[in-house]
Amino acid sequence: MGVAQEVANGKMDQHSNSIRVQETEALQATPAAIETRSLTRRFESLVAVNHLSFSCPHGAIFGLLGPNGAGKSTLIKMLTTLLPPSEGTALVAGFDIVRQPREVRRRIGYVSQMLSADGDLTGRENLLISAKLYGIPRSERAARIAEALDFMNLGSVAGKLVKQYSGGMIRKLEIAQSMLHRPSILFLDEPTVGLDPFAKQAVWQHIRDLRREFQTTLLMTTHDMQEADELCETIAFMHQGAVVRTGSPAELKAALGPAATLGDVFIDCTGAAIAEGGDLRDVARARVTSKRLG
Ligand SMILES: Nc1ncnc2c1ncn2[C@@H]1O[C@H](COP(=O)(O)OP(=O)(O)OP(=O)(O)O)[C@@H](O)[C@H]1O
Ligand SMILES: [Mg+2]
Repeated sequence: MGVAQEVANGKMDQHSNSIRVQETEALQATPAAIETRSLTRRFESLVAVNHLSFSCPHGAIFGLLGPNGAGKSTLIKMLTTLLPPSEGTALVAGFDIVRQPREVRRRIGYVSQMLSADGDLTGRENLLISAKLYGIPRSERAARIAEALDFMNLGSVAGKLVKQYSGGMIRKLEIAQSMLHRPSILFLDEPTVGLDPFAKQAVWQHIRDLRREFQTTLLMTTHDMQEADELCETIAFMHQGAVVRTGSPAELKAALGPAATLGDVFIDCTGAAIAEGGDLRDVARARVTSKRLG
């Protein structure tokens, strides 16, 4: 059963007491918000994620960096239970992605690399669909939507069709959609790609506010070294499906030399030039999405 079907069935609210007990037990069992255990995903002969092990502490803003094709989106798709691992597993919010995917889904939000809002609907209508999908009770929906619109500064455009939004407004709407059910962990796959510097700053501020106000753990990918440097406390560099280096931006730079930048660290540990954008598959999909959005 898909996430949408499950949440639409209203199962999210059925066992709230037992969820709380399980949650406490789970948090005691694992101090990390995310912990992967030899997580692996193959696509035929290609090993996209290769026996990967890392952990992300609760309440962190954690950056996943690496060249095109390193396996970042594949890793996120497994952690959000959208793609089954070929081998290994991970604990997300204390629950096993393979054995307890429904428990995981109740506690996470996800903004995909591709634009996902519906251009033919208004911002408010997109949020209403998400509220229904996440099983937010009818009596609470209007207040949660108003809160999310307010939080992301989208109140004045809530009644406009999304195809009239700028890229930055669409990204902010997608983050608003992903936070409606107050997830404890939010996965953001390239949340600011294609945004101008001001729109980027706005999204960064919202990410910081989410963590401060709701103690949300944020795991994000980016190709923007300045973004990673300013926003993330911990960075994991991925290369060919494995985590090759982890640390705070300051630690990673200092280990390379007094004048090193995060871009230097990127090149040092992946041997790759910093990417300009997605691969052909991503670009093609982005074009289809923007065409759909009008
Ligand atoms: N559904 C799929 N079928 C076959 N191969 C796939 C599939 N999805 C991803 N891959 C391959 O797995 C590898 C990792 O892809 P992934 O999208 O995870 O990389 P990424 O690190 O997110 O890259 P980018 O920075 O370009 O977004 C790539 O070689 C990609 O072509
Ligand atoms: Mg990707």
